[in-house]
Amino acid sequence: MSRPKISILDIQKAKEEKRKLVMMTAYDYPFGLMADEAEVDIVLVGDSLGMVVMGLAGTVPVTMENMIHHTQAVMRGCKTALVVGDMPFMSYNTSIREAITNAGRLMKEGGCDVVKLEGGTYFAPTVEAIVKAGIPVQGHIGLTPQTASALGGFKMQGKDASAAKQIIDDAQALEDAGAFSIILEAVPAPLGKLVAASVKIPVIGIGAGPDVDGQVLVTHDMVGLFDKFVPKFVKQYTKIRPVILDALRAYKQEVLEVKFPAAEHSFKMPDETLKQLKKMVEK
Ligand code: KIV
Repeated sequence: MSRPKISILDIQKAKEEKRKLVMMTAYDYPFGLMADEAEVDIVLVGDSLGMVVMGLAGTVPVTMENMIHHTQAVMRGCKTALVVGDMPFMSYNTSIREAITNAGRLMKEGGCDVVKLEGGTYFAPTVEAIVKAGIPVQGHIGLTPQTASALGGFKMQGKDASAAKQIIDDAQALEDAGAFSIILEAVPAPLGKLVAASVKIPVIGIGAGPDVDGQVLVTHDMVGLFDKFVPKFVKQYTKIRPVILDALRAYKQEVLEVKFPAAEHSFKMPDETLKQLKKMVEK
């Protein structure tokens, strides 16, 4: 029997009950289906799709249309996990009004349950306004890939005490603004622990050590489908790319050698029909 749909209340209860949350990314229907089958709690349609699906150098060029298109596909497969739609760069940065409009589009047109946006204290008023408009928001602090260039690259954040304190302040500002959860990316493990202890809402880590309230990974990294580079915090649970590549090479070879399609992959025609057809063609 399929489990019931997961809500933001279930996510918040997990922290009270000290149960770790499991979150993964998905960008299409098959991975949406598999996320439900694996019974993960949260699926993120991340703007990481720019890199791992669209072949872009980063997440900056990803558009609202890209996000809506992929969120719709995930939603067709994913029926029970909580689905987070990621707000792309510049869809919430220019004004609060535009942020609410775009969060609404991602929910109405994409069909996701909640949205996520990157940024701490500075974006707390934006988060508050979206939440007041009736759209649950997940924050994202620490390394924020959309503004990696302003951070000097994809680097660990919170290195010195004052930078680390700022990240704790960011988490508290997002909690006060009404965010239901926070993603914390690429910070030292002891800081991850302090951030999780400093707020009541669940803090889900990606490169934030084990002492946070849950973990998220980019699925294409985790299964070895995207291996241009593998961040330090990624564990590859399988390496699926060579498996697929072997299959593609075997297919090519069999087509060239006319071993595929074999009889079992081909449709039959009764002898009599074939005889009649040949007569018609020969005329
Ligand atoms: O876009 C994404 O996949 C993300 C994760 C790195 C959390 O934001």
